Amino acid sequence: MQAALQNENSSLDRYVSEIRAVWGDGRSPDLSSKVKPLLENLLRTTTLDEPWMAQLIAQGKQAEELYRDPVYGFIQMGHNQPQGHRNAPHDHGPCWVLYGKIEIHTYRRLDDGSVPGQAKIERKETHTLTPGVVYAYLPGDIHSTSAPEPSVVFRFLSYDLNKIERYRYNQDKGTVALVQQA
Ligand SMILES: [Fe+2]
Repeated sequence: MQAALQNENSSLDRYVSEIRAVWGDGRSPDLSSKVKPLLENLLRTTTLDEPWMAQLIAQGKQAEELYRDPVYGFIQMGHNQPQGHRNAPHDHGPCWVLYGKIEIHTYRRLDDGSVPGQAKIERKETHTLTPGVVYAYLPGDIHSTSAPEPSVVFRFLSYDLNKIERYRYNQDKGTVALVQQA
């Protein structure tokens, strides 16, 4: 009983309630900008000894699903990323994503997409997300991540990325490929 009460009062549960309160039908174009300050507030106010945060760090998993909403389908992920961890440029199809605490590179696409499997991209910007700072990446935005130091990274997904069509890019080879469903 005590564990349940403690859980109801956790910063993570409060955060989920706040998201559900603004979610509506999930189609509002400014929804990402409404959820962004909620994630920033979560990162600012959660102490390292709060049970869910302490567990995320102690277990050290590279990817942990902290919450999946049974009604609206959004997902909050937590990641322990070792120094030097990086991934390839990719998009999130029709979904948007909020990243907190990591270095993110964004890309612009230079070709018109008319040749299947080919894509020419160039680096556009680098966002250094310091603790408590959150950026939104909108539908189709191409980005990659790198961890200049060991980091705990929070990724809010507007929907399950394993259930949508999205792409991964190889900048050196100039290719693009569908991300295979898990
Ligand atoms: Fe991403």
